[in-house]
Amino acid sequence: MHAFSLKNCELGVATAATQIEGGQARTNWHRWAEQPGHIKDGSSPARACDHWNRVPQDIELLKALNVQHYRLGLEWARIEPGPGEFDATAIDHYRDELGRLRDAGIKPLVTLHHFNNPTWFEDAGAFLNPDGTDAFQRYTQRVISALGDLADEWITINEPNIYATHAYYFGVWPPGIRSLKTLTRVYTNLAAAHIDAYRLIHELQPDARVGVAQHLRVFRPRIAWHPGHWASAQTMEWLFQRMITKAMCKGRFLAPLSQPPGIRPGHYYDFHGINYYSRSTVSRLDDGVGADVPINELGWEIYPQGLIEVARWLHEAHPGPLYVTENGTANSDDGFRSRFIYEHLSEIANSDLPIERYYHWSFMDNWEWLEGESARFGLIRVDYETQERTMRESGRFFSEIAAARGVTDEMYQRHVSHQIYSRNTTPH
Ligand code: FCB
Repeated sequence: MHAFSLKNCELGVATAATQIEGGQARTNWHRWAEQPGHIKDGSSPARACDHWNRVPQDIELLKALNVQHYRLGLEWARIEPGPGEFDATAIDHYRDELGRLRDAGIKPLVTLHHFNNPTWFEDAGAFLNPDGTDAFQRYTQRVISALGDLADEWITINEPNIYATHAYYFGVWPPGIRSLKTLTRVYTNLAAAHIDAYRLIHELQPDARVGVAQHLRVFRPRIAWHPGHWASAQTMEWLFQRMITKAMCKGRFLAPLSQPPGIRPGHYYDFHGINYYSRSTVSRLDDGVGADVPINELGWEIYPQGLIEVARWLHEAHPGPLYVTENGTANSDDGFRSRFIYEHLSEIANSDLPIERYYHWSFMDNWEWLEGESARFGLIRVDYETQERTMRESGRFFSEIAAARGVTDEMYQRHVSHQIYSRNTTPH
């Protein structure tokens, strides 16, 4: 009754470099975290999971999870610590990591940009500066030449909409700018950077699979029949995800974006990466949570069918293979994570869409941007003081699903049946 099989969807887990590596890389985030008040718990990515020094141990944990895939990010600031200056030691480090993954039979999906800029790039205006694309090309060229024999699946940019809005419109992420005009310029340049990188990677590695990890949400009007609420939901959906996916997938820049010189309409994806977490309930141009809906510890609505709703519109707009490149939940005592996993995977199992991969966010607890160390998304628990890793119950469940490529009734009874979500009692 509760069983399902995942015939066509392979399982993996995901991380990002700045969130797990630790150490003193010179990134926009290391610098941002130094200023008091920016990060909720005052923590910094300099600690994180010390993964830089624990790669072999962490790959043993990936093996224990039985995953076939691992999505990892690169720290651009380590690879290119100064403009045009590449660090062979950092590149060797990633070669070693990718080689170990290959030996373990785990296929890497590598993210080139996951909110993380070297400070020299940030200080030159990052993607606000149209020349930012050239710098990103130079980095991409070096990465593909240096690592292309060990990886052939690439995500150029992670969540352009979250990055651009938080860094350039809400001003809560580095560099802390609040301007609508700036936001549209960054959107345009990010899409151009993706398209240029897509072409370059295919020149260097014709068989590569290249895509973007898009953060997609469901936007629902607070009152279904209210024309103002409905219009807000449509507008948010356009500005937040339809406009940017069209620009990045097809090279078509519609208002309020403008077509950059040198970019022609075309086909710029081999798969769609979907990062799906939640649904927004809107009445104005803001982001609310409905009354009495299940929520996680950050107050995000848990809405599993939304994964298929966003996947369907994206696939209808731009057909292609779908990878769920992130999906997961903040749950420090692990009391409902197995249910969350079960319900999202069951949506995939029962859908007719070509969802080929599911990467759980996250492999292990990590440094969660503004939330610092306080939000715990991991299948593996990390004690940041001792760096001890402990497999959570949900990690064991995930490893059983990965081994069986599905869930049996018995697994459901053991891992999921007793789990319940909290509900939102303070609708926004
Ligand atoms: C996504 C980010 C990822 C992580 C999760 C919780 O927006 O891509 O790095 O922070 O949210």
